[in-house]
Amino acid sequence: MTASLLRRKPLHVESGGERRLARTLGWPHLVALGVGAIVGTGILTLIGVGAGKAGPAVILSFAIAGTICACAALAYAEMATAIPVSGSAYTYSYVVLGELPAWIVGWSLILEYSLVVSAVAVGWSGYAAPLLARWLGVPMALMQGPEAGGIVNLPAIGIIVVVAGLLLRGTRESATLNAVLVLVKIAALIVFVACALPAFEAAHLEPFSPFGFSKSVQADGVERGIMAAAAIIFFAFYGFDAIATAAEETRNPGRDLTIGIVGSMLACVLIYVAVAVAAVGAVAYTRFADSPEPLALILRELGRPRVAHYLAASAVIALPTVILAFFYGQSRIFFTMARDGMLPERLARVSSRGTPVRITLFTAAIVVVLAGFIPLSQLAALANAGTLAAFIAVAACMLVMRARAPDAPRTFRAPAPWVIGPVTILGCGYLFFSLPSQTQFWFVIWNALGVAFYLLYGRRRAGIADV
Ligand code: ALA
Repeated sequence: MTASLLRRKPLHVESGGERRLARTLGWPHLVALGVGAIVGTGILTLIGVGAGKAGPAVILSFAIAGTICACAALAYAEMATAIPVSGSAYTYSYVVLGELPAWIVGWSLILEYSLVVSAVAVGWSGYAAPLLARWLGVPMALMQGPEAGGIVNLPAIGIIVVVAGLLLRGTRESATLNAVLVLVKIAALIVFVACALPAFEAAHLEPFSPFGFSKSVQADGVERGIMAAAAIIFFAFYGFDAIATAAEETRNPGRDLTIGIVGSMLACVLIYVAVAVAAVGAVAYTRFADSPEPLALILRELGRPRVAHYLAASAVIALPTVILAFFYGQSRIFFTMARDGMLPERLARVSSRGTPVRITLFTAAIVVVLAGFIPLSQLAALANAGTLAAFIAVAACMLVMRARAPDAPRTFRAPAPWVIGPVTILGCGYLFFSLPSQTQFWFVIWNALGVAFYLLYGRRRAGIADV
């Protein structure tokens, strides 16, 4: 029994023919996919939540979450080039650690990607709802989810349907449109820094860390601290892992994945630190903490309403790139797990355009329900829990492979793996325990359900069950 739970997938098991994805992507597509997936609701909205939890020390929260994510990105790059097939952390775990760990990682990725798609759709609707309500002449309540007094979040559902349609048209077209929208998003953040940085005042950084370092329950019952903020801000940094799920559709995986993952991660860390310093230095953090549109609010406070409007409009235009990248990753995780027999195999059929149509539709049905009814903060925290589990697994895979086959050829070798790996594992573990207690509880429930499904279905049906 234990042996079968830890059986490993041979790398050559990948099947061809009808269930092979088309190789259409080069590294510019991957960098665009990476930056498109990373810069989103995290920097545009959750920066305010983070400031509310850490005060001006949210700058440190950004640095901590960014450092841990950068270490994870290096481990990811090594694994993605060593095992350049679909499925990212799930596939690496299957090849290196064994079937049960792989199942738990795959199940966590499903949680991560679904909830990021839903969370960013809800964040998008926060900016879009006022515009839509005005254009359509309907009451705001019709445009909001239950947490804001409405019934169902219709704009969030609408944007998910649009993005699903793009994916069904084929990877290449979607990735090219994505690249254009990424430029819109980056330009808006650069304009923000250019407007906010000249207003920097050191006095806004006092007191620097009003809630201390570790997560602790404050007098009002809310969990705060630099690490509590980092655990939420973490949302802003990931997305490069979505690139790794595209490995099988990459023309030159060794070179393209390395440039795509490391390049997009470094670009985003630089932009974020600049935005965080500019934001916290420009106005007192209490002014924008917990705002649904903190960066636009800061610009208005600085007397730049037209720039604020431009930034909000850019968010509405460009946030769908994040939804696109995670939706893409989600459908590929499903595809790979179904192809392995862990999920119903009928889902793994690919159309003549090389896209997994049924999985895309199935994913859309699930994320639409989540986005329609669940609040943004809960979606983001639970997405982080799933991501942290996957990052821990990837770092563990890298270390196990280094120990098992130290001299095996690797297109990309992470520098100082015995530092990078443990920092990723311990750092992600610390971030997990800094998440809200309620989130940790739901994550355990999700995985208990997953293990039950695996024992009843996946274990007997897995493609390597007879090997
Ligand atoms: N990093 C992505 C975002 O911030 C998930 O929206």
